[in-house]
Parts: sequence; C-alpha cells; structure tokens
Amino acid sequence: MSNYPSRIHLTKREMELQNDEQSLDLLRSEAHIWNHIYSFINSMSLKCAIQLQIPDIINRHGAPMLLSELVEALSINKEKTQYVFRLMRILVHSGFFVKQSISTTEDNDEEETKGYLLAPASRYLLTEEPLSSRSLVLAMLDPILMNPWQQMSKWFQNDDANPFLTTHGSHYWEFLGEEPKLKQFFNESMANDSRLVMSVVLKHCADSFRTLNSIVDVGGGTGTVAKAIAEAFPDISCISFDLPHVVIGLVGSKNLRYIGGDMFEVIPKADAVVLKWILHDWSDEECIKILKQCKEAIPSKENGGKLIIIDMVVKNHKEDNNLLMTQLYFDMLMMTVLTGKERSEKEWAKLFLDADFSDYKITPILGLRSLIEVYP
Ligand SMILES: C[S@@+](CC[C@H](N)C(=O)[O-])C[C@H]1O[C@@H](n2cnc3c(N)ncnc32)[C@H](O)[C@@H]1O
Repeated sequence: MSNYPSRIHLTKREMELQNDEQSLDLLRSEAHIWNHIYSFINSMSLKCAIQLQIPDIINRHGAPMLLSELVEALSINKEKTQYVFRLMRILVHSGFFVKQSISTTEDNDEEETKGYLLAPASRYLLTEEPLSSRSLVLAMLDPILMNPWQQMSKWFQNDDANPFLTTHGSHYWEFLGEEPKLKQFFNESMANDSRLVMSVVLKHCADSFRTLNSIVDVGGGTGTVAKAIAEAFPDISCISFDLPHVVIGLVGSKNLRYIGGDMFEVIPKADAVVLKWILHDWSDEECIKILKQCKEAIPSKENGGKLIIIDMVVKNHKEDNNLLMTQLYFDMLMMTVLTGKERSEKEWAKLFLDADFSDYKITPILGLRSLIEVYP
C-alpha cells in the first residue's frame, strides 16, 4: 500500500485552498487570453489617433491641451465628443500621451484641470517629423496588410507561398506597384526609418565606408540610404538599385544614380553592396540567390569588396522581454506578407557560408537591428 496520503484524506480546509488555487489559475489564464484577444485594440487606437491627427494637433497646441480644446480642434462629429476621452485614456495608458495639470486650483473637476501632452514616442508620429513612424503605422495597419492575418490558418493548409498571396492572389512587391496610396505610405516609412538608421550608422560606423570608392544599395527604395552615403562621402559613387516601378522618375545627383532592375538577375558592380532590410524579406534559398548575385557584383576581400547588411539578429534580450517579442512580431510579419524570416546569429552565419562568403562581423548599434559586414 502507498505511503502517500490519498486525495480522500485531504481536510476540508486543504480542499478549499486547492479550489482557491484552481480558481486563481483559471482567472489568471482568462486574463492572459483576454489580453491576447484584445491586444489589436492598441494598434487600432493608435491608427485612429493618427488618422484624426491627434499627435499633430496636440503638438501644435504647444501646451497641455484640455479635452474640451482637443475635441474642438478635431474634425469629428461633435456628438462623438464623449468618446474622445476614452480613446485618449487608452493611449495615455499605453504611453503615447501624458496628462499634466494646468490649473493650480484644487476644487476643479480633475479632467478639466489636466491637459494632454505628447509622450516621447508620439514625437515620432508627427507628420512633419523626418524620422516619423506615422506612415509605417498607416501602411502596416492598412486592410491590405491586415487581411492576410485572417487567412493564416487557411494558408497553413494550402500550397501558397504566404497568406498575402492567399488573400490577394499576387505577391506583395508586385501588388504594391498597383496600390499608389499603400506604396506611398510604405516608401515613406522606409525612407523615414533609413534617415534614423543612417544617422546612427554614419556617426558610429563611418569607418566601414571610408575605404570605398563605390557602393550599390540593393533594394534601396527611394534612395534615402544611398543619398545619406553620397552626401557624407562626396568621393563615393553611389547607386540606389530597386524595382523599375520604385525608381521611375527619381533624379540622382553628382555622385548618386538610380538604376531599376531585379536583384535576382543582376546587380550593378561596386566595391560594396548595401542591403538594408532586404534579406529578412526572403527565404534562405532566395537569400542565397541574392547573396550570390551580390558576390558577382563586388571585388575580392583583398581588394576591399564587402556587403553591408542592416537587419535583425534575433536573440533573447535579457534586459527587456519586449525586445524579443518585437523581433518575433517581425518574424511573423515576414512569414505572413513575404517569404522571409528574422534570423539568429547562427542562421545568418549558415546563410553566409552557404553563399560562399568567408567571414562576417556583427555590430549591434541599431536597437533591434545590427550592422553586419560580410566578406567574400
Ligand atoms: C523592406 S524594403 C527596404 C527598402 C530600403 N532598403 C530601406 O530599408 O529603406 C525592400 C525593398 O526591396 C525592393 N525589392 C523587392 N524585390 C526586389 C527585386 N527583385 N529587385 C530589386 N529590389 C527589390 C522593394 O521594392 C523594396 O524597396
């Protein structure tokens, strides 16, 4: 016979405690599930605030803005006034706005004595801010990019390359060429991000460019990265290379040219190929094809040839769990819209080896992304 007490011998108090534990577990699980079901409300509330131009309006006000003043300034049906407080409340809670006291009199109604100000993150949602993420919010939360998420389970059961294809019947890059509004938001968001990235890269990694006579920025979009290099190094001859529909009509400068083409077919020759936010868009097999074209375009390591990649290196950021979560969001985005993925250092190393490159160096100076130099 077992020495362990059977469940029947639990006292009434022990049973109560066990039930309490179970109910607590259940309630905690329920809250965890609810949090996940409704986390899309954060994104949608942010999008709504941007569409109503709330960050711009509060910024223009130049001082803590009362709810009544905000409502007055908004282009909304004034019968919806009472709902503005609720939209602002969740956005204050999620760190986009702060509330600050205006009046020193204490007998006033609390809401009427506090005004809204931008929190630091909202500075990067302003229309006129050159580093703004506003266009990224509007591009990523456009129904064209949101609908594929509804098709993810269907995609797991069919033969399509990604849920975007299941939803829209064509690949993202071609589709973008037919959607002027989304294309504008997307290209703007890439350009704004490139301004931020290049300001850091040129400050901390200028030496990576000094020895070069020429660069080609592959998948360079509207040319922000190449422009920044061309301006910082007037002796480097720069090419911004992208699909013809992206570069059409773009005008270069003394040391910057735009060339349209397909990186899977041929890449213009240069001392270094820059690939910012390109390889994460593509599967390992596709990356190897791109990397082999890059190798054809540059000289040997001894003659100064190299790749300068800007992309994520996925790792467990011990200091902040949210950083890994954001990298995992990007990984799922690459799976849903494109054929790509976010890679760990081990996965990057394998990719470089498989494409016949000899060595690489990772410099983690870009927050969630790194600068990776790769040598032939
Ligand atoms: C994620 S965006 C990055 C843009 C830019 N490098 C940046 O970070 O701001 C990817 C770019 O790759 C370009 N692209 C996609 N397929 C391409 C191809 N086959 N050949 C050349 N460029 C391509 C897209 O048009 C787009 O501009």
